[in-house]
Amino acid sequence: MKKILEIKNVSKKFALRKDNFFSARKFFTAVDNVSLSLKENQTLGIVGESGSGKTTLAKLILDIEKPDSGEILIDGKDITRAKGKELKELRRQTQVIFQDPYSSLNPRMNVENIILEPLQINKIIKQEQIKILHSLLNSVGLPQNCLKKYPHEFSGGQRQRIAIARALALKPKIIIADEPISSLDVSIQAQILNLLKQIKDEMRVSYIFISHDLSAVCHISDKIAVMNKAAVVELAPAEELFKNPLHPYTQLLLNSVCDADPENKNDDIQIIQNDSNLSPSCAFAERCPLYDQKHCLSENNLSEVKKEHFVKCALSSQKKALYGDRNEN
Ligand SMILES: Nc1ncnc2c1ncn2[C@@H]1O[C@H](COP(=O)(O)OP(=O)(O)OP(=O)(O)O)[C@@H](O)[C@H]1O
Ligand SMILES: [Mg+2]
Repeated sequence: MKKILEIKNVSKKFALRKDNFFSARKFFTAVDNVSLSLKENQTLGIVGESGSGKTTLAKLILDIEKPDSGEILIDGKDITRAKGKELKELRRQTQVIFQDPYSSLNPRMNVENIILEPLQINKIIKQEQIKILHSLLNSVGLPQNCLKKYPHEFSGGQRQRIAIARALALKPKIIIADEPISSLDVSIQAQILNLLKQIKDEMRVSYIFISHDLSAVCHISDKIAVMNKAAVVELAPAEELFKNPLHPYTQLLLNSVCDADPENKNDDIQIIQNDSNLSPSCAFAERCPLYDQKHCLSENNLSEVKKEHFVKCALSSQKKALYGDRNEN
């Protein structure tokens, strides 16, 4: 299958507010040398705790932010350097669905105008617009008589269906769903997940699915990237990542989700403070239960330790037994 998206060594820093006029400007790295790819009709899940850089990466792909370095190729063309007509075309190829459909939909526009707006901006002929509108309503399971209604007249799940219809209007090749089900009732979450899956097969789009909810990510994704402190620390096919997580951070993320005993269940990840004076090369070292001075001080890169299973950890790259393989338990 053809690669529809290639992210190559992309980094993004944000300038922090100066303490005072004379102090030097400090920067915060939100995305650090990230490389990922996505094939046609594939879903890449991105997980990681709050602040790990997931949304920033999405904004770079959507050209809402420009990276400091690296390339983002959409269908082989670099959106970070594109201009004019080419840039407009590349932006059209990638659409987004946000977490909160209420704040992402204009409350003063009715459903018809919300879905038609991207078609009007792109000057699609009127007759075609109406055809697309009705077929989109069908695809997302909204009744044809809802066109004159406003967002506040719908439930959360229905609003997310409107947002999905709008995102699909221009037949994008990639849809980025940034926490698309987090604000919905649990009973509705599965419906929206199934709708996204069904649309993927019908329209042959590719997804980037960002979520804190690891089980939802696993349900929909072909492969999953785990982000910690701006970097991808593990990348593997979804099933493989769940069965055999190699990075200590992924293991902590999974343990906090999979631990059946409520007494042991942490909402957040356990924080362990290791010796931070040693300035380790691994960003997770300070919190890593397997911290080892000898290995964690050396440089480590995302490397392939098994077929299609990449990990950024000096210990797991050496295939040392970490927590023990989940398969063996
Ligand atoms: N425009 C900005 N200016 C300064 N810092 C920013 C900006 N945008 C993001 N950041 C910082 O970059 C880091 C990564 O933010 P980002 O929103 O990408 O995280 P996230 O993984 O999506 O988190 P969450 O799961 O909470 O949505 C955060 O520490 C955030 O404060
Ligand atoms: Mg985010």
